[in-house]
Amino acid sequence: MVSKRDPLSANIRHFSITACLVPICSLYGAAVTTVEGVGSINTRLHPVQERIAKSHGTQCGFCTPGMVMSMYTLLRNHPQPSEEQLLEALGGNLCRCTGYRPILASGRTFCVICTELFAEDEFQPLDPTQELIFPPELLRMAEKPEKQTLIFRGERVAWISPGTLKDLLELKAKHPEAPLISGNTSLGPAVKSQGHFHPILLSPARISELSMVSKTSDGLTIGAGCSLAQVKDILAERVSELPEEKTQTYRALLKHLRSLASQQIRNMASLGGHIISRHCYSDLNPILAVGNATLNLISEEGTRQIPLNEHFLAGLASADLKPEEILESVYIPHSQKWEFVSAFRQAQCQQNALADVNAGMRVILKEGTDTIKDLSIAYGGVGAATVSAQKSCQQLVGRPWNELMLEEACRLLLEEVSLPGWAPGGKVEFKRTLVVSFFFKFYLEVLQELKKLVKLMPDSHHYPEISDQFLSALEDFPITGPQGVQRYQRVGSHQSLQDPVGRPIMHLSGLKHATGEAIFCDDIPMVDRELFMVLVTSTRAHAKIISVDLSEALDLPGVIDVITAEDIPGTNGSEDDKLMAVDEVLCVGHIICAVVAETEVQAKSATEKIKITYEDLEPVIFTINDAIKHNSFLCPEKKLEQGNVEEAFEKVDQIVEGEVHVGGQEHFYMETQRVLVIPKAEDKELDIYVSTQDPAHVQKTVSSTLNIPINRITCHVKRVGGGFGGKVGRPAVFGAIAAVGAIKTGHPIRLVLDRKDDMLITGGRHPLFGKYKVGFMNNGRIKALDIECFVNGGCMLDDSELVTESLILKLENAYKIRNLRFRGRACMTNLPSNTAFRGFGFPQGTLITESCITAVAAKCGLLPEKIREKNMYKTVDKTIYKQAFSPETLIRCWNECLDKSSFHSRRMQVEEFNKKNYWKKKGMAIIPMKFSVGFAATSYHQAAALVHIYTDGSVLVTHGGNELGQGIHTKMLQVASRELNIPMSSLHICETSTATVPNTIATAASIGSDVNGRAVQNACQILLKRLEPIIKKNPEGTWEDWIESAFEQRISLSATGYFRGYKAFMDWEKGEGDPFPYYVYGAACSEVEIDCLTGAHKKIRTDIVMDACCSLNPAIDIGQVEGSFIQGMGLYTTEELKYSPEGVLYSRGPDEYKIPTITDVPEEFNVSLLPSSQTPPTIYSSKGLGESGMFLGSSVFFAITDAVATARRERDTVEDFTVRSPATPERVRMACADRFTEMIPRDDPKTFRPWSIPIA
Ligand SMILES: Cc1cc2nc3c(=O)[nH]c(=O)nc-3n(C[C@H](O)[C@H](O)[C@H](O)COP(=O)(O)OP(=O)(O)OC[C@H]3O[C@@H](n4cnc5c(N)ncnc54)[C@H](O)[C@@H]3O)c2cc1C
Ligand code: FES
Repeated sequence: MVSKRDPLSANIRHFSITACLVPICSLYGAAVTTVEGVGSINTRLHPVQERIAKSHGTQCGFCTPGMVMSMYTLLRNHPQPSEEQLLEALGGNLCRCTGYRPILASGRTFCVICTELFAEDEFQPLDPTQELIFPPELLRMAEKPEKQTLIFRGERVAWISPGTLKDLLELKAKHPEAPLISGNTSLGPAVKSQGHFHPILLSPARISELSMVSKTSDGLTIGAGCSLAQVKDILAERVSELPEEKTQTYRALLKHLRSLASQQIRNMASLGGHIISRHCYSDLNPILAVGNATLNLISEEGTRQIPLNEHFLAGLASADLKPEEILESVYIPHSQKWEFVSAFRQAQCQQNALADVNAGMRVILKEGTDTIKDLSIAYGGVGAATVSAQKSCQQLVGRPWNELMLEEACRLLLEEVSLPGWAPGGKVEFKRTLVVSFFFKFYLEVLQELKKLVKLMPDSHHYPEISDQFLSALEDFPITGPQGVQRYQRVGSHQSLQDPVGRPIMHLSGLKHATGEAIFCDDIPMVDRELFMVLVTSTRAHAKIISVDLSEALDLPGVIDVITAEDIPGTNGSEDDKLMAVDEVLCVGHIICAVVAETEVQAKSATEKIKITYEDLEPVIFTINDAIKHNSFLCPEKKLEQGNVEEAFEKVDQIVEGEVHVGGQEHFYMETQRVLVIPKAEDKELDIYVSTQDPAHVQKTVSSTLNIPINRITCHVKRVGGGFGGKVGRPAVFGAIAAVGAIKTGHPIRLVLDRKDDMLITGGRHPLFGKYKVGFMNNGRIKALDIECFVNGGCMLDDSELVTESLILKLENAYKIRNLRFRGRACMTNLPSNTAFRGFGFPQGTLITESCITAVAAKCGLLPEKIREKNMYKTVDKTIYKQAFSPETLIRCWNECLDKSSFHSRRMQVEEFNKKNYWKKKGMAIIPMKFSVGFAATSYHQAAALVHIYTDGSVLVTHGGNELGQGIHTKMLQVASRELNIPMSSLHICETSTATVPNTIATAASIGSDVNGRAVQNACQILLKRLEPIIKKNPEGTWEDWIESAFEQRISLSATGYFRGYKAFMDWEKGEGDPFPYYVYGAACSEVEIDCLTGAHKKIRTDIVMDACCSLNPAIDIGQVEGSFIQGMGLYTTEELKYSPEGVLYSRGPDEYKIPTITDVPEEFNVSLLPSSQTPPTIYSSKGLGESGMFLGSSVFFAITDAVATARRERDTVEDFTVRSPATPERVRMACADRFTEMIPRDDPKTFRPWSIPIA
């Protein structure tokens, strides 16, 4: 939070910011409050910190300080905020673990109306008088501002901050090429990622003239230095003061200011910076242009005005600022009667996303008529700059506002606003469709406004009617936050109060997450002589390395060395999975070498000086189709079969064949990959601090890479800022390369991937292409199903074979189909290797199965839920791989979900809604789930723990699981507390270390808490057995008494616990086995509404019923269900990886890759843990819920496709449509084919090279 004194109002302004974009010099005179300054577990917690932790709003905790600061800032400005303010404050913060619901719940406790879960007396009250005050010396400085120019000089850059406008203009005349640095949200990203460099930066921050606002009778003038957040307030105030007819432009601007970036960015970005940047996606420029805004410029020469018109936006020199000029303010005129202004925008998701297309539209009608007097339309996102459709508008002047004009306008607009098929950013047909869909919306909006006017003047002109069915085109989806109920079983009344098992205990690190005191890998302070490593990766997809010239890089200051494969003393990974490329690169992002330098900046600039020459090799394969053509596979086909599929196809009433495409997914853990390797002085020992799910694998890989025994290497994992499978295999590669650097240089090495490199190098979820053939009777009974699927494994094997196996094993989901054939193969392509990801193939594969169900339903004219019910397992049975199981719980989950969601009555309401609305459609889907937990191999289920009791009675627990946010340490202490019968406060877990528990298995496959829990239980039971005679002798004694006696009697107070694990095997030859210890069942029902004109969707409600059996910790388990559901929803709706035709990943950060935000969570989000009825062979009969919820996110996908299918039926679009995931606005819009999609020009794909290629 930054606090500044506003020179005009003399108030202190507190605002949240995006820290990585704030230049340090811009903070002159400002007070900065970070999470550490807000409260501490050692002194006093701030209520925000306490409540986010106690309401279970933290899992890995990496996002928590940001959440705390956004909420804290909000409360500094509004101690009792409204729901809308809370959503706005948190809208810019991302969390990958929690699914946001509990974070919002904690914030709601401060709101005026709080209907939440907690009794108010549970929390410390918020006392605004206790907050830090604005430092008096800064206040004095601000009250009597110095006028002299301040200069901050760095090595390469000078920051000049003049105190007066005169000085600023003088400086601008002297340095015309120097940019004015206002919010730095446009300059900053260009400097960071595009290598822009400005030796002189002029800061206008201290010039009060640039913050002036003046209201006149015909308009509003806003200083160019006002932040967009301030502009929002100014406009809102003006809208409340003026009659509606005068504020059309202001309201259009306000509409976009609500969704433009995030509050943090709006707090920083200035109006001037926004206008001058002229980004093609600018949300405000199209509206300002059609609203006839004027730019007031100033220089030493004087002032002048230029219009913010199409020439200015296109950057024509004659219509632009002169180099020595600056923008002082912007004049925005009032609108008039008979003038209508609207704004439109469609992005991948509602908030925090740049628009694919936006538009400002304005029309003036001749008073009392429908004749167009003036029309202006400007679009963003359809060219290199904001595009004005001037010619079309001119041709339409004089035309009446009716259907004929609409037709003509669409034709003209498509002609004028033309996008080539290869246009950067892709989505060309979607964008073309939006150009006309937006105009249609505008057409209806104006008619609607005219209707209002007619009501006031009954004798006026008669305007075309809008059919009631069409009114739904007018409403935008509101920005909302989730409400909901979480249900779980309380522990029995007989359970002792001290026994924490089954209770919703807060995450052990929750409070530390909230205060920023939780230590992550990169929080470890710099160690003595530490160096920084940056990786150098291939820019070619498949090529021979001809030469690598390091000379220039090595000559740079601070550069110590460049590590290549030749420096590896031991083995360079395996033959087909090398740590560093040797002669050949297999993908863009393949690691070639690594620069070691004194600082990160030095290492990064050295990477740019390494010259690598390549010779391209053939073939270059990116897509699954190409891999099939080239027979390029990573492993043999995996196949399961039962019954006689061919024979069954001959006997069925109908057969449907189809295809399913599922895109990949980026883990987007908040903490990117990182490692710190510290070589020790003696015996080649190494200490490795690493963010991993599998420290033993890191240890083993480092050992073979360095050719030293495993016992010299200790890996430490305190906590991991999210893993989701992405930190199972890859951390070993980074650990090993950093270790080579440490051994070669003799220095500690830190390697921290930035987001862009992390996304480029590490791979993610396997994209999938599936073909199905399903045979069924007219009543919906499926008799035969044949699925063949291919996953895109990337260039190396990694986990691709295991993912394919898991996918095939789980493909039948909840259905008993007598004749089945499942085949799967992992394709080898020239893309970064894909790897483990929550659900391990299940979320992709099972989408095919559920799509078959939908296809069958469509053909039979029945509802999909009926087909699901008809084909679901009903009695004790065997799976396709002959493992016996009882579906009783599956059916309970299904029935409870139907019941809790009031499915049938809501289904009828949805149908009613759809009958009445043409442009908005609702959809519903309920999906069952049978998810098998664990690894299909016995050796992977073992676990160990080490429990020490110290002489004061305190207990240290260590086990083989890693804390990834899933609360494993909390659960382990719950187990130890029950077993030893001591409070959790007497127990502690320090870290996971290969020195205390060796040979561990990756914390993955939803089984970590279970197997490690059994090991902890075993260790505790061993200790208790040893203590038994002492306790018997002194039953009234305290724990401390017994421990003291045990020590005196020389009884060992340390024990290793071990769990041998479940037997699990799979014989792929025979196609049978017992691969999984148990199943988790569940069901989810989702309802959505789609906007057929834009492809946007709103999630109305989701109900989940999940079988946790006897949950160890319902708060943590509900957190896992909610978090994985939201992550699944992201997979199926917004998360889209885009690759260039050369195999370069475009989507390398949050700007291009959209994980769900707080406003993407269903408006009503209910989760119930099914009361237990079974006794699985697990720790206290609890079930592992880490992954399964992911697939339930598909209920949103199927609800969307349900809505799309309704729209298509209504429009008589009869042919089947291919299911493609994610169901992005682009895909939804294009699937809802209508008169507008029909009128757009279509390109012949053979005539151009597209901007991106689909790889699934
Ligand atoms: C994460 C993120 C998300 C975003 N999302 C959106 C979005 O959804 N929609 C959207 O429209 N935009 C979005 N933006 C862009 C944002 O609106 C602009 O970056 C911002 O408005 C620029 O303002 P600034 O003050 O930060 O400009 P700066 O970066 O400080 O400056 C930008 C340019 O303006 C010039 N300049 C600044 N002030 C003046 C002046 N008074 N006179 C003359 N020249 C001046 C500078 O010389 C410089 O060339 C996003 C940006 C970020 C970082
Ligand atoms: S708790 Fe939010 S990212 Fe992990």
